[in-house]
Order: sequence, then structure tokens, then C-alpha cells
Amino acid sequence: NAGHSHIDDVGDPEVGEMLAAGFTSSADENLLDSARTMIICVPTPLSDEGGPDLTAVKGAATTIARHLHTGDLVILESTTYPGTTDEVLRPLLEQGSGLVAGVDFHLAFSPERIDPGNPHYGVANTPKIVGGLTPGCAQAAAALYGKFVDQVVQAKGTREAEMAKLLENTYRHVNIALVNEMAVFCHELGIDLWDAIDCAATKPFGFQAFRPGPGVGGHCIPIDPNYLSYKVRSLGYPFRFVELAQEINDRMPRYIVERAQQLLNTHGQALKNAHILLLGVTYKADIADQRET
Ligand SMILES: NC(=O)c1ccc[n+]([C@@H]2O[C@H](COP(=O)([O-])OP(=O)(O)OC[C@H]3O[C@@H](n4cnc5c(N)ncnc54)[C@H](O)[C@@H]3O)[C@@H](O)[C@H]2O)c1
Repeated sequence: NAGHSHIDDVGDPEVGEMLAAGFTSSADENLLDSARTMIICVPTPLSDEGGPDLTAVKGAATTIARHLHTGDLVILESTTYPGTTDEVLRPLLEQGSGLVAGVDFHLAFSPERIDPGNPHYGVANTPKIVGGLTPGCAQAAAALYGKFVDQVVQAKGTREAEMAKLLENTYRHVNIALVNEMAVFCHELGIDLWDAIDCAATKPFGFQAFRPGPGVGGHCIPIDPNYLSYKVRSLGYPFRFVELAQEINDRMPRYIVERAQQLLNTHGQALKNAHILLLGVTYKADIADQRET
């Protein structure tokens, strides 16, 4: 409201434009009574046991339910396991409001796909997936996003939209783990993996380059695939690819310390009391997100 942005990708001039156009932010839940659309984009972290922590999603749903009216549209954007919109959100909204989803109000899931720090792709030119509880719910959500997003893609339902987001993140998680594992043995074999990746990346089809690093950071890659493996475990078996990728990526910080130790050794120095400069504290360049660093 003061016109200052604390978000890297949103500048003060953009906030100024929004304020001039009538935007206002508030923590007063009573304002929900005058809203036709409620979008939930609260954190979905892991619990102490490593499973999904949906406290904030449930909290937001309970708040919204107290102010839900006939004809309203509720959209969940937080990354979560398939089934959350239908099995967790819908009952809380229905019980708290006495209304029926898909009949009295619209309910949809639409994954947030923002790539922080990406100068080319923002909310307008990144296709937006929407999955509705009913076709009418999907249409209502698509109509909303269609006002400011170039392309809206309708999923079959909420579960498919939830799954699409986790597929995207799991794909990256697994491929980062693949090159991280390769980095360890390529070092032993005297192969420059970065050069090999650059060569492979010249193939115009069928290959996407991922590069090794000291582990994974941020919210999406280290956390979101756990939401999916949690859901799969409820079937009685593990999601082996995700769990293996987790294990390999989790090992990287320790590996980096070992390599640093070896380098110091070659200079006759001990790790203890050594002064080490870390370049790049966040998980990628030009962003301030230190979560899971
Ligand atoms: N940051 C990204 O680039 C990104 C990209 C894709 C998906 N996501 C997903 O979006 C979701 C939110 O992530 P984020 O990075 O924006 O988190 P964030 O922590 O930056 O913002 C979450 C906001 O929710 C508010 N909040 C918390 N509990 C609440 C409650 N009970 N009621 C109302 N508001 C509440 C917090 O005050 C905060 O302003 C997560 O599920 C994340 O996985 C984030």
C-alpha cells in the first residue's frame, strides 16, 4: 500500500500502476465479503516428519468459507499433492459456508508457474493451466485468467492440474540429480562434464541441458516432489525416482565440502579454521529467495 515492492520481479513503478488502478492489500478478512474471486497462494512447506504441511491452505480455506457467497470463484494456486483441492479444500469450504462446490460456487486449481528472475517469461506469457471441479468451474477460472494471461490451458480436472505442476518440478528434480550423480563420477574419471553437457546441448531435439550444482534450493525443487512421493506412499509403495533423486541431491552439499577439503589439502591447509568464500547463496542468480539454501 506504501508503493514499495519487496518482490524481486515486481518493481515499485508496477505497484504504483496497480495502486492507481484501484489495487489495495489488506489483512482484514471481512473484505472477502465484497470479493467475487478468492485465489489462495499460501506456503505449502513440509512437516517435521517430511510430509505435506497444509496448515496454511486449511487456514485460508476456513477464513474464506466464513465469507463465501453464491456465485463466488475460489482458486488454489499453492503447489500441493493431487487431490488437495477436492479432498481438503472443498470440504472445508462447503462445511464453513453451507454452500455446495460446483453448484453454488466455483472451485478450481491453477498452479503457480512463476520462474523468479526470468526476464523473458512472466505471468502474462506463461500459459496458465486451470483444472475445475466441474466444466463450469474450469470455464469460470479460465475466464478470469484469460483477462491477463495470453494462453489458458484447461486440464481435465483439479487432479490433472495439480499433477501437471508436480510433473514439471519432479522432471527438473530428477534431471538435476542425474547430472549431479554424473558430476561425482566424471570427476573421478577425469572427464569435464560441463563440456560434455555443452556438446550434448547442441542436439536440436530430444535433449534438455541440466547442470550440476551443490544441491538444490528454493521452494519448488527440494520440497514439491515430496508432496508427490507422500501421495504415492499412501498406495503402499514408494515413488522410487523421486526418493533416489532426493538422496543424490541431498548428498551434494557434503560432497562439495569434501572437495573443498581435498583442495585445501593440496595446499597443505586444514578445513578447520580455513576462510572460505561462498559465491551464490541462493539457488540461482539474481533472486533473494534463501529458502532451503
Ligand atoms: N515463489 C515461487 O516462485 C513459486 C513458484 C511456483 C509455485 N509456488 C508455490 O506458491 C505457494 C506460495 O509460495 P510463495 O513463494 O509465494 O510463498 P510466500 O511465503 O512468499 O508467500 C505466502 C504468503 O501467504 C501468506 N499466508 C500464510 N498463511 C496464510 C493464511 N493462513 N492465510 C492467508 N495468508 C497466509 C503469507 O503471509 C505470505 O504472504 C507455494 O505452494 C509454492 O510452492 C511458488
